[in-house]
Amino acid sequence: MKQVILNNGTEIPEIGFGTWQTTEGVQKTVNEALTSGYTHIDTADIYGNESEIGQAIESSGIDRKKLYLTTKIWNSNRSAAGVKQSVEQSLKKLKTDYLDLLLIHWPANAKQFANWKEINAETWKAMEKLTKCGTVRSIGVSNFLVPHLKALLETAEVIPAVDQIEFHPGYTQSETVDFCREEGIVIEAWSPIGSGRLLKDEELKTIASHYGVSPAILCIQFCLQSGVVVLPKSENPENIKNNLHFSRFEISEDDMKALKNLKENGFSGVNPLTVDF
Ligand SMILES: NC(=O)c1ccc[n+]([C@@H]2O[C@H](COP(=O)([O-])OP(=O)(O)OC[C@H]3O[C@@H](n4cnc5c(N)ncnc54)[C@H](OP(=O)(O)O)[C@@H]3O)[C@@H](O)[C@H]2O)c1
Repeated sequence: MKQVILNNGTEIPEIGFGTWQTTEGVQKTVNEALTSGYTHIDTADIYGNESEIGQAIESSGIDRKKLYLTTKIWNSNRSAAGVKQSVEQSLKKLKTDYLDLLLIHWPANAKQFANWKEINAETWKAMEKLTKCGTVRSIGVSNFLVPHLKALLETAEVIPAVDQIEFHPGYTQSETVDFCREEGIVIEAWSPIGSGRLLKDEELKTIASHYGVSPAILCIQFCLQSGVVVLPKSENPENIKNNLHFSRFEISEDDMKALKNLKENGFSGVNPLTVDF
């Protein structure tokens, strides 16, 4: 599997297995993913599935060092004590003694908190500490837009290794992507298939047919060709395999443009500046 090099010199597999909204049967699904050859699993405290993922990894017998595990700090744990407790629990549930990547799931935003900058800075400081003792190899953020990133960088000692954001045809967040590129922050694409919404997009279906691939595979290749790490999710064994092992192809420049400018049919509707959770 091709690896992407992060700003601290560590490597992350360019395709990771998404696990959001996979609680029932997640152990079986993750087992399927591991058997298919995925080495990179994306989870979060809030997904409520870390224990099952830990069990799937244990029962696979795969050497922990061959896997890349990401989890995220939920919004109720944005504090030094919250980070510490959250990571302790995630490690226990995932049955491991280190995380490859730990993310702040959502930034505290100005809509909810007058002191949003301080909250994010305190959370980050606690995560920086965890890199020093080796509990966490890399730290990053998720759903941070340019104002959140700029504020964080004012006090950060460690530059975030990644920003995991919504990214797919029709929703590519250029401003955030460009800022991250300038700062050496790798973008990870969440909901690369728009949580399935893009599968019905007529224009995307037409473009996919020109390449003889499914809309889902076109979305995944679109992300890879955009230079972002991609996290497709599936509960279907055949789709799980195909999403990792499809024959690589090249989307033309014109089609990349068309996919970028697609109607926002895949958009989740969630904006980090205005969310109230
Ligand atoms: N950081 C954040 O705030 C955040 C937010 C959202 C998501 N994420 C991460 O990003 C991951 C992916 O996003 P997502 O879960 O929204 O979903 P997604 O990967 O965009 O789409 C999943 C949907 O696409 C279908 N699908 C997948 N592969 C397919 C294929 N080859 N052919 C046909 N259909 C296919 C799946 O159905 P089948 O099961 O039938 O294949 C499912 O309905 C999450 O699981 C999570 O790890 C992070």
